[in-house]
Amino acid sequence: MHTLICDLDQRERDALDLPETPDVIVGREALEASAPCRGCFRCWTETPGRCVMRDRLQDLGALLGATDRLDIISASCFGGYSPLVKRALDRALPYLHPNFRIVDGQMHHRLRYPQSLRQRIWLYGTRDDGERTTFLGIARANEVNLGTQVEGIWFPERARDAGRPDGALGALGVGSPVTDAPVLGAPGAPQRIALVNASPKAKGSATEHLLADFADALGAYARLSGSPVPKIIDAHCTLRGELSAPNARKGGVDLSSCEAIVIGYPLFVDALPAHLTAWLERAAREGALASGTKLYAICNLGSYEAEQALSSFGILRGFCHAAGVSWCGGLAIGGGGMIVPFAHSPRMGGMRRARSEGIDALIAAVRMGLTVQDANERFGREACGLDPSAILARCPTPRAIYKLAAEALWRKLARANHADLDAQPSYDLGAHAGTSGS
Ligand SMILES: Cc1cc2nc3c(=O)[nH]c(=O)nc-3n(C[C@H](O)[C@H](O)[C@H](O)COP(=O)(O)O)c2cc1C
Repeated sequence: MHTLICDLDQRERDALDLPETPDVIVGREALEASAPCRGCFRCWTETPGRCVMRDRLQDLGALLGATDRLDIISASCFGGYSPLVKRALDRALPYLHPNFRIVDGQMHHRLRYPQSLRQRIWLYGTRDDGERTTFLGIARANEVNLGTQVEGIWFPERARDAGRPDGALGALGVGSPVTDAPVLGAPGAPQRIALVNASPKAKGSATEHLLADFADALGAYARLSGSPVPKIIDAHCTLRGELSAPNARKGGVDLSSCEAIVIGYPLFVDALPAHLTAWLERAAREGALASGTKLYAICNLGSYEAEQALSSFGILRGFCHAAGVSWCGGLAIGGGGMIVPFAHSPRMGGMRRARSEGIDALIAAVRMGLTVQDANERFGREACGLDPSAILARCPTPRAIYKLAAEALWRKLARANHADLDAQPSYDLGAHAGTSGS
């Protein structure tokens, strides 16, 4: 079966000059009518292979399981997929099996279905080589993660030129290394720091614990050194792609007076969750952040290897470029499944030490108003070879133990729900005619 996922509406799709007609089209109308992923994992533990949200993306896992050619047409959003197309990719989680496999020495989820997807991608409207380079990294990471074979990536300027495997559109291999723009804004300690929690979970997320630890430790270091404790503005990025805060006035949370922002998020399909992408797109469009604002990130991920998060930092770098703010680097924490269970163990004990040290290194950069790279140089900390603006925090247990513990947990949760973890729901093309797509 040939499936097309795109953020184009019916009129825009009609204007495409597609060489062949896909069997199923998941277009703008279906995507707008569907909710972003809430990160509940019930598509693994309650209804394996099927999302529990009853909308037009509910059977996306089964659709991909029945697909052998997947085409994606998406606007570029800072070098990642547009928020709507990303919404589909996040909702494709049930296509994967919760158990793990090792590919190229790294941990990834097993595929639920036996056949693999041949994939072609058109990312239209990229702004510069930096966005194209970022996207090539994400596409490569997705290829491994989702077990697809990418046959081509094209970067047409306009949406209407997408859908054709045309060499003139700039095929795979464009892009060149990105260098960060010089950091704007005054050096020195920020007085107001926003902590944005972009986990879709309302409570008890790993991101919540990490940001709380960041705030506690930041306050403690300021008091110890006799300097003023910065004011922390806590905000949550909602599934609607807006910021909310307990005492925010109508019209949202104003971050324009913050000198530094730390965004905490879980890695979703090698990139930012769709709703965070939506907020960033809006923030750039509305000029919501003051020029010179310093942006930092804390990303946690389910896989063991923290470096899998690096592809997502490229999108934040692209956002900063577009929004006129400064990308100052991020902390990536592997083995995210260990964060909540050990949130209250000793901060420098074996189960928390690596991530506490990572948070402390990030705090050192934020407090001095420096990039992670500059702070590492100043404090003689070894730089991450893959991305000097990143700090990697390793999972505290050996990989085999993390894998065994996670798989045992998924199986136990599925058993409690009388669910078959290995189910392979089938996709009924007839039943979905005219509903899944346009
Ligand atoms: C839709 C979805 C996609 C995910 N994609 C990835 C991924 O690409 N790589 C990874 O290591 N973990 C992935 N995860 C796992 C999350 O990053 C992980 O569970 C994280 O610890 C959740 O953090 P939180 O509790 O702060 O939301 C994904 C989870 C969901 C729900």
